[in-house]
Amino acid sequence: MKALIPAAGLGTRFLPATKAQPKEMLLVVDRPAIQYVVEEGLASGADGVVIINSREKRAIEEHFSPNPELVALLRERGKDAYADAVEAVGNYPVSYVYQEEALGLGHAVRCAAEACAGEPFYVLLGDVLVPDNKMLPAMKAVSDAHGGASVIAVMPVPDDQVSRFGVIAGAAVADDVWKVDSLVEKPALEDAPSNLAVFGRYLLSPRVMELLADGKPGVGGEIQLTDALDAVLAEEEMYALVVDPADGFDTGTVESWLETNNILFQRKNG
Ligand code: G1P
Repeated sequence: MKALIPAAGLGTRFLPATKAQPKEMLLVVDRPAIQYVVEEGLASGADGVVIINSREKRAIEEHFSPNPELVALLRERGKDAYADAVEAVGNYPVSYVYQEEALGLGHAVRCAAEACAGEPFYVLLGDVLVPDNKMLPAMKAVSDAHGGASVIAVMPVPDDQVSRFGVIAGAAVADDVWKVDSLVEKPALEDAPSNLAVFGRYLLSPRVMELLADGKPGVGGEIQLTDALDAVLAEEEMYALVVDPADGFDTGTVESWLETNNILFQRKNG
């Protein structure tokens, strides 16, 4: 099972900072944001992390490639802790596929179809960091308890936020687990079936990947992952794990990125 990390976006909200540097490479305390997401994917038990990149964003690949010269120089200078950190990240088992055109999240995920080889797969959106790495194993446990069904993480959001997210309809089957009946991407508040918003962590069945092959543009003219999830409900069960918003750290806007830096810095040094 692979962990997919879509990373081909333009980083518009961070321009001009992201003109020459990918948004995913922006610093969060002591490492680029995407390093947390890759580490979460590796910790999940997935047998590989696949970054869905754009051809323009070489810096991401350089970050996860070995740099023996730098490691040797650091060791020569007695900076072994830095050398260890550089060596470790350069050896992470990360591979790449390319999204040639920014046609939406559903299209990005479909670009990794071959890498998933007909198996279930995780999708980790990089705008949210989960530094304790506990969310994917919790989702896997829900999936295992329901015959290998797809599981998505959702969180309650206030009314004025629902139109920013994918939103589920369904019913609770346990304290923190819902059975999903339908999903809608970025609904107006009056059309939102609940206030449970898709959070950016998914464990999906191979059938979702197949359905993405027929993905049509949806909200915003983009091929939406949410639409494929809604479509698969005609054939398969899906569950939602209700997570605590405090378990994830948003880095999707300048303001939330700054706040996440502050909180994680305090935690590390507090
Ligand atoms: C994407 C998904 C949306 C989800 C959100 C979580 O939207 O399409 O369903 O709720 O991520 O962050 P985006 O933020 O890319 O617009």
